[in-house]
Amino acid sequence: MKHLCFEGISTLSEHNWIMDRILVRPSGPLSGDVTIKGAKNSALKLMAACTLTEGTFRLNNVPDITDVRLMSELLGSLGMTVERISENTLEIVNPGNLTPEAPYELVEKMRASIVVLGPLLATYGKAKVALPGGDDFGPRPIDMHLRGLETLGAKFHSQHGYIEGNCEGLTGARIVLEFPSVGATENVMMAAVRAKGETTIENAAREPEIADLATFLNRMGGNVLGAGTSTIVIEGVDELVAVEHSVIPDRIEAATYLAATGIAGGEVNLIGARPDHMDMLCQKVGEMGMRISADPNGLWVMCNKDLQSVDLATLPYPGIATDYKPFLVSMLTVASGVGIVTENLFSGRFRYVDELIRMGADIRTEGHHAVIRGVNRLSGAPVRAHDIRAGAALVIAALKADGETEIRDPEHIDRGYEGLVENLSSLGADIQRLS
Ligand code: EPU
Repeated sequence: MKHLCFEGISTLSEHNWIMDRILVRPSGPLSGDVTIKGAKNSALKLMAACTLTEGTFRLNNVPDITDVRLMSELLGSLGMTVERISENTLEIVNPGNLTPEAPYELVEKMRASIVVLGPLLATYGKAKVALPGGDDFGPRPIDMHLRGLETLGAKFHSQHGYIEGNCEGLTGARIVLEFPSVGATENVMMAAVRAKGETTIENAAREPEIADLATFLNRMGGNVLGAGTSTIVIEGVDELVAVEHSVIPDRIEAATYLAATGIAGGEVNLIGARPDHMDMLCQKVGEMGMRISADPNGLWVMCNKDLQSVDLATLPYPGIATDYKPFLVSMLTVASGVGIVTENLFSGRFRYVDELIRMGADIRTEGHHAVIRGVNRLSGAPVRAHDIRAGAALVIAALKADGETEIRDPEHIDRGYEGLVENLSSLGADIQRLS
């Protein structure tokens, strides 16, 4: 949305009548099917990997969300073309000879842009990427990305808000990550496919999206073993080719509808969801009283009684993902008893809690812990979506809030969800988006 600004006068976007917002009224039980789209956090990295070689790629099952559009713009600024040739398929043309430079205007809008650093550096011997800076979760450093690439032979310096890397070819090496960072694992993996010799990443992130990236790289002619475990071994290759690939389903999107069913009650089929990517979450919501079962089409979820509180802590995969946490917190706000939630990945990821408190939730935060005392029902209020998952968490909490909840700034939600409002509405939720 364009903001019109006049000196001394508030921006037009501050007025309710022009703001996009989502309105939710008490709803449930939910019932029906939702088809889970491709994983945002995989699609973005696969798109970045298309910088590794020239040719025409096809990525199927790519969600039509803002972050994918931003990554398309970024690839466009490097010299590639990205076209959505059908509802779920992107055609990405890499003509070779890219300009290995990611501008601040795009990187500041999407932190994940940093994953072009490794593949560009490995392919062109140089890359310049704007430093992403922090965000609503707190500081978001990239030191592990840089240290990993340095171990392969890259040299970096930063000036004027950009990080510039150079190398005369990369050489395989053993890299031990201080923490299983998703982005650092991906950046190093993409660079290492083009390095000379063997690279081993120890303490690698094990998320399903990492395994999906490895499958894609191998399809391109790479030689990546062990992705999905803590040790990934990559043998560099001289040649890669453009290929077609289908993105894995989005476990975080699936978790959103699962949690919505927990809060509003009902019975929902998450078509295409991969229960084997969501083990710990299924276990935890099972303890809370939900019934979950894998079926040939995906995941069946059901809730026909009051939720029970549990304690939980976020951890790298296969632990409970930090991205699930806002949904679990929403569930705990209306569960019986007291739950303690510990955030171990992002220090600032409790900001949205203040919005839930505005809706009548009983939550106390202390450092990276939150103590949530369940209430019978929440109370509808105007609230603000601070980020993708926090926004979705407010939407699903509103299903059990008396009166009307107005979620402002829903464009944050659009970054990661295609059709959240439409899907919840098709399950019977009383929800609409006003533009
Ligand atoms: N970290 C460092 N140094 C680094 C890299 C990371 O200290 O060089 C720290 C981070 O500050 C954080 C922890 O390590 O405390 C984990 O960060 P990680 O690198 O694993 O996260 P990421 O790659 O930046 C991805 C997802 C996030 C998801 C996290 C954790 C994408 C685009 N983003 O971020 O998803 O929360 O992994 O699983 O893949 C979202 O989808 O809304 C989202 C934020």
